[in-house]
This record gives sequence, structure tokens and C-alpha cells, in this order.
Amino acid sequence: MTRFFLTTAIDYVNSRPHLGTAYEKICADVIARYQRLCGLDTRFLMGNDEHSQNVYKQATDLGLDPLAYCDRMEQEFRRTWQRLDVSFDDFIRTTEPRHNAGVTELARRIYDAGDIYDGVYEGWYCIGCEEFKQEKDLVNGKCPLHPTLQPEWIREKNYFFRLSKYQQPLLDLFAAHPEFLQPEIRRNEILRLIEGGLVDLSVSRAGQSWGIPLPWDPASVVYVWFDALINYASAVGLGGDRDVFERWWPADLHVVGKDITRFHAVIWPAMLMSAKLPVPRQVFGHGFMTLNGQRMSKTLGTIVDPIDAADRLGVDPLRLYLVKEIAFGGDGDFSWDRYEERYNVDLANNLGNLVSRVAAMAGRYRNGVLRPSGGGSDQLVRLGEQIALDYRRAMDAFAIHEGAAAAYRLIDATNEFIAATAPWALAKDAASADRLTHVLFDAAEAIRFAAVLLAPIMPSSSREILRRVGASVDRLHLDRDGRWRTEGERVLLQEGPLWPRKEHTILTDNQTTPPGAPAPEAAGAPGPAAPAPAPAASAAAPEAARISMDDFMKVELRTAKVLAAERVPKSNKLLKLQVDAGTEHRTLVAGIAEAYDPEALVGKTVVIVFNLKPAKLMGVESNGMVLAASPDGGKPIVVSFDEAPPPGTRVR
Ligand code: MSP
Repeated sequence: MTRFFLTTAIDYVNSRPHLGTAYEKICADVIARYQRLCGLDTRFLMGNDEHSQNVYKQATDLGLDPLAYCDRMEQEFRRTWQRLDVSFDDFIRTTEPRHNAGVTELARRIYDAGDIYDGVYEGWYCIGCEEFKQEKDLVNGKCPLHPTLQPEWIREKNYFFRLSKYQQPLLDLFAAHPEFLQPEIRRNEILRLIEGGLVDLSVSRAGQSWGIPLPWDPASVVYVWFDALINYASAVGLGGDRDVFERWWPADLHVVGKDITRFHAVIWPAMLMSAKLPVPRQVFGHGFMTLNGQRMSKTLGTIVDPIDAADRLGVDPLRLYLVKEIAFGGDGDFSWDRYEERYNVDLANNLGNLVSRVAAMAGRYRNGVLRPSGGGSDQLVRLGEQIALDYRRAMDAFAIHEGAAAAYRLIDATNEFIAATAPWALAKDAASADRLTHVLFDAAEAIRFAAVLLAPIMPSSSREILRRVGASVDRLHLDRDGRWRTEGERVLLQEGPLWPRKEHTILTDNQTTPPGAPAPEAAGAPGPAAPAPAPAASAAAPEAARISMDDFMKVELRTAKVLAAERVPKSNKLLKLQVDAGTEHRTLVAGIAEAYDPEALVGKTVVIVFNLKPAKLMGVESNGMVLAASPDGGKPIVVSFDEAPPPGTRVR
């Protein structure tokens, strides 16, 4: 069976996954599921990049052993990908022994090829990018991607890789395989870069312990990018099982962001050429995702938690939105408003409604059973077959947004077909009985067909649709299931709406991330920020005063362990707390000084509002708010646990 090996970038684990990193994983998952749908033996690799200085720093800031911190983050990442229905077959961590073996093997091969020499590196290093920078890369002395970080000036003994030697071989690769780097815009960009000349690359770091020791000089560790790129090969047996390596290498596709395309389309193939190993067949450099037009950044508070986004409207609606709304390869924007709007248009009003209507008509007019006797709508059949071809062409070229659009063309055509054939009118005329059966069967068939095409994008919804239109939901195969059927029997099920319409269930954009901040003076202080509304006359709160589940979900409550506490000078009420919030340390200010001695709080696990805008209280910046009950006239009582969950646990 033909195989397909695809990978995503491996993520740095110094912070949680966000919608931008999730976008890449979802798109790669759509490609993986499409390859499986076509019957290819598919291997989909993802993983975590752990040997970064940022990761080391984050762990030590939290007082954790770096490996223990990475273990914790692995769970966080796996949980997120599973929640988003990302069907990876393998998950690699760069601290695993199999990766160490692969790095050692590849580094040794490059060394033996004479492509490594030692020297002294003197220059800038951006820890945010984990990259050596030249003066021309900096703007006003700062890395434009990490303006809050000061680049480090380093001077150390390094080993260098003769990247410059591979300029011509890389140009030859690009000429012989125009498909090697996609999309076109990325290919042109990188081609210009290679034509401009390549500078040898420093591949080791001196005086660091967090990393893989160089095989020929264990006092140095392998530079994090040199280490990370090798994950793709070490995951399929480089330095280990030769048969596995023979079977799976080279990779068919690396899906990565545009910011790191250069590493994958220049440095990585050059390393492989030096090691005399085949280069990957294709690299796809996707665009960047913004939130309301702004770069996703933790410091700007423009991060969307992908689990939250899935919780609001569902995993499949999120996947469809990301795939259908953004041309894969270009940049794209996320907005909560648009997300809800597309949910209503594409799912509630369109596909969901179509499935319900056809099932309802089949129920009303044919007791849910459709058994046609040959024939049918030539027009719809021809369209379906044309759409299947367009879909395949698009998906084979990784234009997954066009694949989604193709499926929707069929859905739109089916709605038009129903309007034009008017089954409700046919039902009134006994002479049209056969025709009515055909019309309903064709509509159900078109839905089945669209569900098969949408299966890589909305895996569980597609299965549900197939079940409702009485089609098999066993392992799908595009050759078999992507063909129009005109005969057979369908038993359609009438069940509740697949996607109930939503009205303003999520934030409007101008309220988004971080949501509804209180007046600065209230942040950090427990208890209601404003006087509570007057109680309603009846015992039950009026509907308008209640909030929806979605409103509640906007507030990210997490557990945090108090590491240190002290009084805020010149304040009777405020305490300054240092807490471990699981993946980061935070400073909070809480108005509980009259009720708690600072020492009594240390070691306690409390609940904090994690996604609150920072606010300054008596000159101290508070990053979150501690939850406490404030009994009338009494002192605040901090919310705590009988049994403390780990720091960073979500509270709902
Ligand atoms: N660890 C490196 C990759 C090593 S691959 C051998 C890295 N990690 S990352 O966590 O910073 O990024 C992981 C992936 O997410 C990258 O492909 C990156 O381009 C992508 N994205 C990060 N932010 C993104 C958006 N806002 N939008 C789309 N993709 C984004 O780089």
C-alpha cells in the first residue's frame, strides 16, 4: 500500500497551545485524514520541542526540574490535540532516547562528511526565536518578533555546519522539484534567499546542560534547531530500526508556519544532503493566524485557547471555520463574531437544516425508508461527480479550503434542487409517487456524498450525518464512497438539530480577550467589583439577569499555589501574592490582608481568574484575581480545597 508520512512542527512547551499553533495541527490533521480516506497507509507525526532555553527558564522559574515540567506540558498538549480530534499516530519529544539516538546518528554523519568545523561565534542571539541574529535582522536593537526581549550578545566556542556549501545543491533541488516548497509565495521567498548566498550555521551551544551532547565534544550541546529538525527522522527509526526508517523516510510532507519555513526548506535539506539521506518530498509553509487582526501574543493578551473555542460551539464547527475561512497558505484572522456567524450560516441554517429537512420529508412521505427503482436526477449526479474531481484536485494540492468549498457547492446545489423539485407539491399528486421517491433519495445521496467529502474536516459530524441518512459509517474510502449511488435502500433517522442556532452566545469582538476587565481598583480584590444588582421581586432571577453557559466559560478559573505572600506597603487591605499557576508564575494583589496573615497563605492552593486583564493596585501589577467569599460585614474567606489539585487545573 502506498504510504504517506506527514508531520507538523514540534511545539515549544514554554506555554500552552494557542489557536495559532492549533490551526497548524488541525490543517495537517485534515490532510492526514484525507490521505487515509484515499486509502494511503498514513503516518501522522507531531511532538514537542523541549531543549529550548525558554523551556529551561520556564521550568526553573517554576522551581521544577526541566524534564518534570516537560512531562506536565506533554499532558497539556496531548489533551488539547485530542480534544480537537487531531488524529496523530505518533508524538515525539526531543528528550526521548529515540530522538537522542537519531540526533547522534545524523550529527555524526554530517561530521564524518567533513561539514563541521569549529570556530568562535560572536553575535546576537534571540532567545524568543532561538536564533542567531545578524545586525540587519534587528530593529532598534530588538528582534522584531520579540520586541520585549533583549537579544543576547554571545561570544562562545561553537561548531559550524557548512551550510554555504549547499547553496548550489539546494538551487538544484528547487529547480528539479518545483513542488518541493509550497505555496508559491513561500517558494519564491526562499529561492531569493538561497540565491542571495548562505552563511554557515552555528550548530552547538557551549556551557549549557539542557540539550543533547555533541557526539564528538560532549562538553557542548546541539543547537536547539539542529536538534529539533531531526525529530522527523528519529521518529521513524533514524539511529534505531533500519526497516522502519526504510519504510517511512523520506517524509512526504512537513506542514510548518511561514516563520520557520527557512529552517525546513534550507537548513534541513542541507543537513540531509550532507548526511547522504533523502530530503523530504514537500514542505508546506502555512500563513499566520491573527485575532481581530492582531498578532497572537501572550503579552498583548491576544491569545485564544483552542479548547475554549471548541467548548463554545463544538470541535467540528471550529475545524470547519478554520479550514473553510482561511485560504491554506495565506494569513487568516479569527474573530468570535465571525466564528458564530459562520456556525449559523454554514451549519445551523445550511447543512444542519438540510439534513433535518430531508429526514423529516422522508419520514412524512415515506416512513423514513427510501427505495428508488433506478434513474434519478442526472443533473445532481453529474454535479456530484464533478465536485468529487474538484475536491480531489484541491485536496491533493493541499488547498484544503477549496476542498471544503467544493463540498459546500454540493450542499448549496442540494438546497436548490429541493426548492426546484418541491417534494411537498409532488406529495400531493399520486402520479408523482415515483418521482418523489427519487427526489428524496437523490437529496439523501447528495448529503451522504457531501458528508464523505467533509469527513477529513468534520470527522465526528460526518459520521453522525452518515448515520442519519442511513449510510454505512465503517471505514470510509473515497474511491468507494465518493461515487454517486442511484440504487439501494436508505433508512433516514429524524433526530434533533445537529447544530442549534446560536444568538450572541459568544463575545463580541470589542469585548474579546481578555474578556470583560473590571475597574482596575477592583482587580485583585475579592468580592463583587460593583454593588450587586437589587434582588428581583420573585425568588427566581429574571431571565435577563442570568448568564449563559457561554458567558460563564469566558472566565478562565484556574487553581494556583501560593509561593510567597507579603503586605503591600501603605495598604491595610492588600496582599501581594506570588503564585504558581501551573505553566507560569504570577504576581497577584488580593484584598485579603485584614483576614489573612501572609505566612498563613503560603502553600495554600487557591482559585484565580486566570484571564483577567492586568491592573495596577497601589503601584503593584496584579495579574489575575483570587476568588473569595465576602460575607456581609465579615472578612473575606478565600476559596480553597479539601484536597488540592495541581496548580493550573481548570475550575468550572
Ligand atoms: N519549536 C519550533 C519548531 C521546530 S520544528 C522542528 C517552533 N515552535 S512554536 O511553538 O513556536 O511554533 C509551532 C508551530 O506553530 C510553528 O509552525 C509556528 O509557525 C506555528 N505558529 C505559531 N503561531 C502561529 C500563529 N499565530 N498562526 C499560525 N501558526 C502559528 O517554532
